[in-house]
Amino acid sequence: MLKYKRILLKISGEAMMGDMAYGVDPSTVDFIAREIKVAVTIGVELAIVIGGGNIFRGVEASLKGIERTSADYMGMLATVINALALQNYLEKYNIPTRVQSAIEMKELAEPYIRRKAMRHLEKGRTVIFAAGTGNPYFTTDTAASLRAMEINADVILKATKVDGIYSSDPMKDPSAKKYHTVTYIDVLKQGLSIMDSTAISLCMDNNLPIVVFNLRDKGNIRKIIEGKKIGTLVRGKDGTRVKKKDH
Ligand code: GTP
Repeated sequence: MLKYKRILLKISGEAMMGDMAYGVDPSTVDFIAREIKVAVTIGVELAIVIGGGNIFRGVEASLKGIERTSADYMGMLATVINALALQNYLEKYNIPTRVQSAIEMKELAEPYIRRKAMRHLEKGRTVIFAAGTGNPYFTTDTAASLRAMEINADVILKATKVDGIYSSDPMKDPSAKKYHTVTYIDVLKQGLSIMDSTAISLCMDNNLPIVVFNLRDKGNIRKIIEGKKIGTLVRGKDGTRVKKKDH
């Protein structure tokens, strides 16, 4: 029995570069593809939102003088590069995959059409959502929350380099304590910087759970889907989510 049936996996751009300083690291993306293959094989419907920070970071560029909206659009283009790279690796493992872009670029990817994305998922295709929300000033974490809501996902799996949410940065503070469960409001109040506040608020308002986990540990995605306690679960106080009917 699977704990989650339809999941939205959020992968940062940085996750694609492994230990490199920039770009797409083939062995890392290959590893991610194999992790995804396991999840798809056990029968979940999987959508992915991917970031672009391994190629271009909009916020940083805007601090260096590029106008913020232009910088954000450049960042969105970076996510399209990552989406195409990931699609190729997934297809190497025979995972049927469709890329949908929030900014239309028909020659490269399907445009984002919610109902079409839903059909792809029902048919067992992994859907990668590229170009964020298509709007400047929104992060790809917010895109993940938005798309998760739109496709009626059961959970967001937020892939990171650490194995959950800690009371402080475990890399700097040896006394940092790991939370197994934390509420949205605590994440916001304590400024636990795991997703930006827009993304968290959207999940909070719709009671969509988030599991923050370490993508580098082999088998984690599968374990979460099977209901094992991996990483940190972010949820509301009562933890219930009333899902709307698919249509
Ligand atoms: P079904 O309609 O369920 O059969 O889905 P499908 O995706 O297999 O069929 P479709 O004919 O829509 O797409 C066939 C291929 O073309 C898939 O790989 C799609 O990702 C791709 N495709 C569809 N629409 C577009 C588009 O607007 N741009 C690009 N670049 N590819 C597209």
